[in-house]
Amino acid sequence: MDSIIVTGGSSLNGQIPIAGAKNAALALMPATLLSEEPLTLTNVPRLSDIKTMTALLESLGVEVTSLQGGKVQVLSSHAMTSTRADYEIVRKMRASNLVLGPLLARHHEAIVSLPGGCAIGARPMDIHIDALELMGAQIELRDGYLHAKAPGGLKGARVPLRFASVGATENVLMAATLAKGTTVIENAAREPEIVDLARCLRAMGAQIAGEGTSTIEVQGVDRLGAATHPVVTDRIELGTYMLAPVFCGGEVECLGGKLELVTAFVEKLDAAGVDVTETDAGLKVKLRGDRPRAVDVVTEPFPGFPTDLQAQMMAMLCLADGTSVLEERIFENRFMHAPELVRMGANIEVQGGYAKVHGVDRLKGAPVMATDLRASVSLILAGLAAEGETRVNRVYHLDRGYENVEQKLSAVGAKIERVRDA
Ligand code: UD1
Repeated sequence: MDSIIVTGGSSLNGQIPIAGAKNAALALMPATLLSEEPLTLTNVPRLSDIKTMTALLESLGVEVTSLQGGKVQVLSSHAMTSTRADYEIVRKMRASNLVLGPLLARHHEAIVSLPGGCAIGARPMDIHIDALELMGAQIELRDGYLHAKAPGGLKGARVPLRFASVGATENVLMAATLAKGTTVIENAAREPEIVDLARCLRAMGAQIAGEGTSTIEVQGVDRLGAATHPVVTDRIELGTYMLAPVFCGGEVECLGGKLELVTAFVEKLDAAGVDVTETDAGLKVKLRGDRPRAVDVVTEPFPGFPTDLQAQMMAMLCLADGTSVLEERIFENRFMHAPELVRMGANIEVQGGYAKVHGVDRLKGAPVMATDLRASVSLILAGLAAEGETRVNRVYHLDRGYENVEQKLSAVGAKIERVRDA
């Protein structure tokens, strides 16, 4: 298994290109199941999660053609062979559950294993199930699989979500495009990835209004057609690299970055003493003094502070002047990076959904363990600031969500390399 070795202390200067959003692509790819005609996605990130979704779709009979080294994907569902998403693939990634809505909508049946994914909480599927049942689906759990059918097809309905779940909103949105009549999703998630999915579905011929707000209205149509769609910029990769120069000095421009994708995050950076400037090409970031200031952070659904940037923010606050309180409201058990940061000299107390971070003057390199996707990158960021060498073990999580992390950081001056364990 690979490890990443970071030697701290070099200041970072230059540009980092930001890829297309993993979480958008993972919802856009299953949208192919809604149409017989091809869906072409551009700006697709090259990540292991994308390969997992490709394998899942291929197991259903979808033809996936990768062009330009994987940056462009042409998906065609004209000759489907199965409506069963097998445990062996689904267990690798929770987003596999996004085939449920489209399969039910076009094929009126689906058998989907309950997902696995990051070990950051229980992550059940009750919201997805309740919503699809309101649209006429019959869903039973047997042998770890959801057996779903909709004889005669799904029907439009009023679908209030008990929580603004990203995945449930995406599943219902896709399902509703081919349902009979009108579906109104209430308390819908408002993430940019939802807006991106709605835009792509509209390009395929769907009738959707209200994406990006809490109420999305979908008028079902008989069929969807072909489309070409560019994947939106990855706001989590963007936020991650925006933090890099805060750890070790310098000025970095994140190419493709837009303020509207990271508004709540930038407000916190400003309060912490970090300058963010919008340029023609993206966002430029520089720390104002020599040390960030402590700030309190609460994770919330979009437009609030994203849970997927909490670990990286915690790593930064470890070096801040003062004490910060981080509250994690989206996932229980999402502070597994805290004990690893403590191994590097951080002073963090975790209690339930709260972490109190007392800033220290410096961190020290140490061998640490990546426990989940965002935790792994937070340890790399901490390593950029730490004295000496930080070895981040178990980086397979990292490859799920960050393409070419070593190349992107070394191009702006970081000392970082990947080593293969014997
Ligand atoms: C998506 C993102 C993930 C991000 C998360 C929250 C993808 C592929 N992943 O995950 O990176 O961290 O949004 O922004 O887009 N819940 C239930 N029942 C359900 C569904 C969810 O209780 O049926 C709970 C979850 O356990 C969690 C919370 O709702 O506590 C948020 O989950 P959700 O918004 O659904 O996240 P995902 O779509 O899985």
